[in-house]
Amino acid sequence: MHAYVVEAFGPPSGIAFEEVAAPSPGNGQVRLRVRAAGASLLDALIAAGRYQVKPPLPFSPGSEFAGEIDAVGPDVTTHKIGQRVMAGGFVGGFAESAVVPAVGAVPIPDAMSFETAAGFRTNYMTALHGFKQRAGLAPSETVLVLGAAGGVGSAAIEIAKVMGAKVIAAASSEAKRAFATKLGADHAIGTEAEAFRDRIKEITGGRGVDVVYDPVGGALTELAFRSLAWRGRHLVVGFAAGSIPALPVNLALLKGAALVGVDLARFSFMHEPAVAQENLKQLLAWFAEGRLQPTIGRVYPFADARQALADILERRAVGKSVVRVA
Ligand SMILES: NC(=O)c1ccc[n+]([C@@H]2O[C@H](COP(=O)([O-])OP(=O)(O)OC[C@H]3O[C@@H](n4cnc5c(N)ncnc54)[C@H](OP(=O)(O)O)[C@@H]3O)[C@@H](O)[C@H]2O)c1
Repeated sequence: MHAYVVEAFGPPSGIAFEEVAAPSPGNGQVRLRVRAAGASLLDALIAAGRYQVKPPLPFSPGSEFAGEIDAVGPDVTTHKIGQRVMAGGFVGGFAESAVVPAVGAVPIPDAMSFETAAGFRTNYMTALHGFKQRAGLAPSETVLVLGAAGGVGSAAIEIAKVMGAKVIAAASSEAKRAFATKLGADHAIGTEAEAFRDRIKEITGGRGVDVVYDPVGGALTELAFRSLAWRGRHLVVGFAAGSIPALPVNLALLKGAALVGVDLARFSFMHEPAVAQENLKQLLAWFAEGRLQPTIGRVYPFADARQALADILERRAVGKSVVRVA
């Protein structure tokens, strides 16, 4: 099979494209013929060796993907060959074949394309976990989504709208703001520090927002926290800007506000797997009912997988990026 292989941590241009042996599934595992793989900032950071956890070299990048099962481990009875599934892990998706635990290979609805399935699990589950279990978002509330045209942010807009909230999207360019509006954001604002808080005050009639969804970090975090309404919740989701901000904690006291962490991996795999399964069921039900209509940013051919990661790192990507593997 063909696979992208990180042999030494570095930029996307250094990732090798090679012919390698297809892996065989062991007990409890299934093998996917990968059809599409999501590309995200996480994948680019892992390949660069800039993520907090470094996989052993060599490895294929790609933390979520979808395809058909083409082999099952000797003891696997839950899955069958030909089944269409989505799967996630830490690495492995930028390859024609990937072996995953059977328990993590989730059947996908007939109406869901492989491209949609490849970008479905991580971003929508993070958003639903954030808004439902961590923020307790109510339908009448207003959400401010930072990095709103990124993969994580764009999914947050869609989920907040399905949950009935009003959404203010923050993004750095006109094209990104137009994309966020197309996804259903009620307002789209720029990220320049001077006008940021005034625009939010203007839109909320001086009240502020109930929930901040923050996958960006850096200087925007404090500005967003200062824009919370009384009893607001600021969801810490990620640090795309590269720096982990610090906050004057008196702001939380003055606003009766909370800074709340959101970590999909710890939630799903370590602490609350049953609740995470319920969330995934909810997302698939919304998809089946047509209430959630996932939007993909750009689909790259397999030959351009490195470009997909470079566009994300250089902040050019708009929406969820997906690589079509087959
Ligand atoms: N907590 C969790 O469970 C969880 C789950 C998934 C991902 N994450 C994290 O969420 C973050 C966002 O991931 P993503 O896939 O949405 O990334 P993405 O698609 O690249 O979007 C990130 C957005 O952040 C903004 N940004 C600001 N400064 C940036 C910089 N220096 N470089 C790149 N982007 C910058 C950009 O928007 P503007 O240009 O509009 O500013 C960009 O659209 C990552 O840190 C990821 O690890 C967390």
